[in-house]
Amino acid sequence: MNDIIEFNRNNIDLNNSELPYSIFNVEDVIEKYSQWCRLMPRIRPYYAVKANPSLPLLKVLNKLGVGFDCASQHEIETVLELGAKPESIIFANTCKTNASLVYSRDEDIDLMTFDCLEELKKIQIRHPEARLLVRIKVDDTDSKVRLNRKFGCSMTDALNLLSAAKQMGLFVIGVAFHVGSGAQSADAYDLAIARARQVFDMAEALGYKMSVLDIGGGFPGLWSHSLDNNEITFEQMAKVVNTAIDKHFATIDDNGHWYDNLTVMAEPGTYFCETAFTVLTRVLSRREVSDDQNNWPHIMYTLNDGAYGSFKDSIYIRKVYEPIPLLSSDIIAKRQPYNSILWGPTCCSQDCIQDNCPLVEMFIGEWLMFANMGAYSTNFDNIGFNGMPAPVYRIYVSYKAKQVLIKRNVWKPIRSYFYQFGYNQQ
Ligand SMILES: Cc1ncc(COP(=O)(O)O)c(C=O)c1O
Repeated sequence: MNDIIEFNRNNIDLNNSELPYSIFNVEDVIEKYSQWCRLMPRIRPYYAVKANPSLPLLKVLNKLGVGFDCASQHEIETVLELGAKPESIIFANTCKTNASLVYSRDEDIDLMTFDCLEELKKIQIRHPEARLLVRIKVDDTDSKVRLNRKFGCSMTDALNLLSAAKQMGLFVIGVAFHVGSGAQSADAYDLAIARARQVFDMAEALGYKMSVLDIGGGFPGLWSHSLDNNEITFEQMAKVVNTAIDKHFATIDDNGHWYDNLTVMAEPGTYFCETAFTVLTRVLSRREVSDDQNNWPHIMYTLNDGAYGSFKDSIYIRKVYEPIPLLSSDIIAKRQPYNSILWGPTCCSQDCIQDNCPLVEMFIGEWLMFANMGAYSTNFDNIGFNGMPAPVYRIYVSYKAKQVLIKRNVWKPIRSYFYQFGYNQQ
């Protein structure tokens, strides 16, 4: 964190700039990738682009060897332009437009998910050679964003869909699921993998040769050391996942089939991007608010980024943000804390970043920093709601990150790509 603060001081004109900033720390993503490879070496991650479609991040992930989970034609086009290979892409939105199916067929994007008959019909007409994963409904009760009300089929529907797919001459090769974003229970993966195994058996009984298990996303974005004691860590999840795969798949089943050739993949989004981005906002205005007794209960600040920009989760999941004043510890020690409200810059009264926020007194023109801002919060439209500007993008490459990229022979192409995105070599 100190490195990032130092980087900000050197790279941003803190006295004059009135724009918010979003800082991408490349080392953080590299570390996440090596943690993944260390703890789940058998499982190839396909990064869920929707979590943060920033091009420099996608470029780094592509060069590290990560595949991509795309939700739309636009996301597929984006990763193909960056150099991703078609076989490293899964089209993992169960509900697809006809045009995106035709596009996928033309670009050899064959791997995709489905969870209903109507989508199978679309696929049969527009991409009959697709390799399909049936997305099943799993228990997501212990997750922050539940997905299984909208996506995934029941076991009964899975059986009917597999039979229908067989009759339609379609190629089902595996099973996908998602235990919900911000999953809080490692057991959810165990239960889901057990269910997937049952669907493998159903499909095998219908004559399909199943070979792909896609365990979705849901992995924590925060590093284990910054999680609360009661929160589940990536290490704990990885252990449960590895054991469950062995328990449910790495044996000969009752019909004598081996799952030797099983490919296990995942679609982590939050995991790769949450901690890699830091947002810097400036205090545009402040108001001291008294109540009717003429007390002075709190201060309201208007910042230059808000719920329509980087702080969307204040609306969607009531996320609690922790502002860090970009002030020296001497100054912080001398200032009094006040109960504060942090507002975004638009005219909308829902544009509230944080209510009841204890914060030392801040003044107009001072900066607040927010860590762990990479997941589902980035805003890359140049001009947003109310004409407010998007954060300026900056890229921080530590010495260590650069050495790793040099060693992998990918530093030069990444560096030349980065120059377009506010990267200045240190
Ligand atoms: C199909 C699919 N895969 C992967 C993800 C990424 O999930 P997470 O950010 O929890 O890893 C999502 C998130 O909505 C999703 O819908």
